[in-house]
Amino acid sequence: MKTLRVGLGERSYDIVCERGILSRVGEVVAPLGRAGRKAFVLTDSNVAPLWLGKAVASLKAAGLDVSSGALPAGEPTKRFDSLMTVYSMFAQSGLTRSDVVITLGGGVIGDLGGFAAATYLRGLDFVQVPTTLLAQVDSAVGGKVAVDLPWGKNLAGAFWQPKAVVVDPEVLDTLSDEYFSDGMAEVIKYGCIRDKGLFERLDEAGSREKLRAHIDDVVMRCCDIKRVVVERDERDTGERMLLNFGHTYGHALEKFYDYKKISHGAAVAVGMRTICEIAERKGLTAAGCAEKITSLCNKFGLSCKDDAPYREVIGAIKGDKKNLNGALNVVLLHDIGDGYIYPTDGGFWL
Ligand SMILES: NC(=O)c1ccc[n+]([C@@H]2O[C@H](COP(=O)([O-])OP(=O)(O)OC[C@H]3O[C@@H](n4cnc5c(N)ncnc54)[C@H](O)[C@@H]3O)[C@@H](O)[C@H]2O)c1
Ligand SMILES: [Zn+2]
Repeated sequence: MKTLRVGLGERSYDIVCERGILSRVGEVVAPLGRAGRKAFVLTDSNVAPLWLGKAVASLKAAGLDVSSGALPAGEPTKRFDSLMTVYSMFAQSGLTRSDVVITLGGGVIGDLGGFAAATYLRGLDFVQVPTTLLAQVDSAVGGKVAVDLPWGKNLAGAFWQPKAVVVDPEVLDTLSDEYFSDGMAEVIKYGCIRDKGLFERLDEAGSREKLRAHIDDVVMRCCDIKRVVVERDERDTGERMLLNFGHTYGHALEKFYDYKKISHGAAVAVGMRTICEIAERKGLTAAGCAEKITSLCNKFGLSCKDDAPYREVIGAIKGDKKNLNGALNVVLLHDIGDGYIYPTDGGFWL
């Protein structure tokens, strides 16, 4: 079993990773609280038939008093309205302050369940059991939890660190190629900003099938990169912005299509390529980075291309919530593996 300790003082926690660990998740969760406490497993309608049984059996075997609930799969479930359903599930199973919530699913379940855990009874323990690649390398680590409001994504949220993150690479076997590619955009992002060796390993593997044998190492390497950044900037006021490489243009593109036509990963892939092309022209990024990123993304089903009219898309950048006080920081690469934050005015994109 591989373990990483996220060091955040009294909010520190372990990320543990092992193939098949879902069948032993109870052994990780039980020691975190009093014997026999209640555990509520929140999941979605796709994950429930695939993986919920294993998780529940293991939690019961470890002596926890388990109940569970599944919500419809998909981003619309992350709406504020769903919170009422989750709170009512918590209430019906009689959760108290000393009990624990377990989020078994992708980023939607992790973000929503984490926010419900952060707010129900003024805060319950929660354990993330991420089941998508994106959730394993990104959303389950770092303590950002949120729901979507009618005015935008993630508008109501909190920083609420999990008590543990349990990563089972085996659950990725049932993930569709489409969602695997989505997560790969974030994996490639980590290589770009912090780890040239990772970038090269991905390039060498060159396909989902070949990567399968190394996926544990790859996922944990990404978690470790996020760990370091989060430890230095838990509340996202500075360095954590590095994780946003490719995301400024990516978010604008998602928004341009009203979050319908393009997936997050596909948009981030276009964003990584776009910002490198601009920065290469300005001499701020080594020549050839955009091309290397595009070639790697292509191997994992991400085209890095989109036909949206550029000027209209950059119009949406103004509305990005990370665009504070009119000043816009962007994340650039000196070269592959070496990201940096570059302060600009709005003119950067023109
Ligand atoms: N908190 C953060 O720091 C953070 C970071 C990045 C993204 N996010 C959020 O994450 C969300 C996206 O997460 P996501 O891409 O995981 O989406 P998701 O949770 O909707 O999962 C994607 C799809 O995969 C299915 N699925 C999940 N695990 C599966 C498995 N093992 N086998 C088969 N199917 C499976 C789900 O049912 C769903 O249909 C967004 O709401 C985004 O805002 C949060
Ligand atoms: Zn992202």
